[in-house]
Amino acid sequence: MDLHARRADSFGAQAEAYAEHRPDYPVAAIRWALEPLGKTEQLDVLDLAAGTGKLTAGLVAEGHRVTAVEPNEQMLSELVRRVHGVRALPGHAEHIPVPDQTLDAVFVGTAFHWFDQEKALPEIARVLRPGGVLAALWIDTVPDVEWMAELENVSRSSVEDRREDPTGIITHPSFGPPEHATFPHVHRRESPEALVATTNTYSRMIVIDDEERAAINEKMLAFLRERPETSNGPFDVPLRSEVYRMVRVSE
Ligand SMILES: C[S@@+](CC[C@H](N)C(=O)[O-])C[C@H]1O[C@@H](n2cnc3c(N)ncnc32)[C@H](O)[C@@H]1O
Repeated sequence: MDLHARRADSFGAQAEAYAEHRPDYPVAAIRWALEPLGKTEQLDVLDLAAGTGKLTAGLVAEGHRVTAVEPNEQMLSELVRRVHGVRALPGHAEHIPVPDQTLDAVFVGTAFHWFDQEKALPEIARVLRPGGVLAALWIDTVPDVEWMAELENVSRSSVEDRREDPTGIITHPSFGPPEHATFPHVHRRESPEALVATTNTYSRMIVIDDEERAAINEKMLAFLRERPETSNGPFDVPLRSEVYRMVRVSE
């Protein structure tokens, strides 16, 4: 298995920690994604690559009928345990276990970069009704905050974390042009240890060996325990959610 495939499949090893330590999504981002539909209540929505249900829970809270699809067994079990009122199905973006044209929207949270886009985009187009929306969301750190930028350097592993510009990967003739918006977000962490636990749910940390991970964790903890922004009790990690939405065109 190549590194990309190993990383895409790595999250289950940290499923419980992922559910506990990763941030959720801003509700404003979910609402903006659905704006092209006009009616934004009680929609049939798919959370594709739903993981432990971080985005699923936000969609349920907005009152939508949600199907969650996730290939990793451990991640899907966490989702079922934690998010109720959802149809949860095993499956991949390249072969979505849902009939044609049955959905108003497909959401993808921090996962589109793991898909085989040439197969996933026609599959997503297949399950969406004409006029339906594909929304690809990411949660990113805010690099212009000094302590976050320094932490990113301290926590760098031997596996690089480079992501392509999403505008390129989500363009497809079944969809109109992607629109983009950014939403500020924060993630409250109780302690330096809790932020280190969040970092340990990133695939670039999961796939490295124990020795390298332990060394990085030690460096991160020392850094966070020294910084005035993070050393004392709860603190907010500044984040942003990048959202790309595109409308399924009629054929
Ligand atoms: C970073 S997690 C995001 C999970 C969740 N959407 C969230 O926002 O917390 C990436 C997820 O993508 C899933 N994944 C990886 N490759 C996939 C594929 N080809 N099709 C569907 N899901 C995939 C992984 O199992 C993992 O749960």
